[in-house]
Amino acid sequence: MTDPGAHIPLDEMKPWNDRLQLLEVIGIADEAPEVKTFTFRADARTWFRYQPGQFITLELPRTEGVLMRTYTLASSPSRPFAIAVTVKAQPTSVGTRWMFDHLKLGDRIKAFGPAGRFTHCAHPASKYLFLSGGSGVTPMMSMLRWFQDCAPATDVAFVHCAHRPEDIIFRKELELLDGRMPRLALSFMVHERSKRDCWSGHVGRIDAARLKLFAPDLHEREVFCCGPEPFMAVVRELLGAAGFDMRHYQQESFGAPVLEDVPAPQSATSEEAGGSPAEGATPVLFALSAVEAECPPGQTILQTARACGVRIASACESGLCGTCKVRKLSGDVTMNDNGGILDEEIDEGFILACCSHPRGKVEIEA
Ligand code: FES
Repeated sequence: MTDPGAHIPLDEMKPWNDRLQLLEVIGIADEAPEVKTFTFRADARTWFRYQPGQFITLELPRTEGVLMRTYTLASSPSRPFAIAVTVKAQPTSVGTRWMFDHLKLGDRIKAFGPAGRFTHCAHPASKYLFLSGGSGVTPMMSMLRWFQDCAPATDVAFVHCAHRPEDIIFRKELELLDGRMPRLALSFMVHERSKRDCWSGHVGRIDAARLKLFAPDLHEREVFCCGPEPFMAVVRELLGAAGFDMRHYQQESFGAPVLEDVPAPQSATSEEAGGSPAEGATPVLFALSAVEAECPPGQTILQTARACGVRIASACESGLCGTCKVRKLSGDVTMNDNGGILDEEIDEGFILACCSHPRGKVEIEA
């Protein structure tokens, strides 16, 4: 392996391949109470290709069983040799708590992605309004770091809400950027003051008057919102009441909408998948595993793979995270994704197994 400290020109490096390369933990830093940043690299001849605001799915190798967890990248692709996720351990967290307790410098883990469309690249505008709550700051940080490096005069009104002043993630860095980026207008808002910090900023919850104060030219901005669902619901309500054109509203959500036009999946038995064909079943050939199975009506390719013992990694199982991306070698599918795959990837023959249903015989590279 190449010395990781050696300088290698970017044009001699290759983009990270999530199917072939692991990630190595190279940094763990405290950001706020119960919030840490984990920084990863692949090997010294690898760089990371993604868009600011995208997310990655980590495969966490717990002894009780592997967990797949999706986290937004807080790092910027303008610094392409490492990626970072900043995660908050909630009282109910399982995956993040495991990372806090077990992940150490030098550990190597599997990951999938990056994926996602919550990025200014997909919604270019002359002015932005970023609204984040709690750890929802991470995609905003990725985009802001990108602007700092590549377009520092971008007009961004950034409102971040936290519980207490000490809970504000990236506070020092954000304040520094506020002083350096001429058209960044940064506002913090906390729900309650704290004895540890003599806070003179906004206190309370975001409301119509404050929204107008933070972004008087609201209607000229592309709005990005990320945070707990109740926070985003309030923002949507405020924007609706202000007559905002919601075509310019983007929100990050790891809860996928219900796919209304797909029949409810049926659970497959191994007999159905690998034995006698179920009525109306469609043949699916998993080429690398040399397994041919039958996909009953309503079942996804992922469910068929599972039923016949072919492993395709998955996480959200709702077409959102991109973890189950596989190449389709022949045949057609109906895919109802939620943004976990790019148009270019579809053109290259990839599908998301968790939300694809075969239309006639298909051959899958798995
Ligand atoms: S498992 Fe997330 S897109 Fe398929």
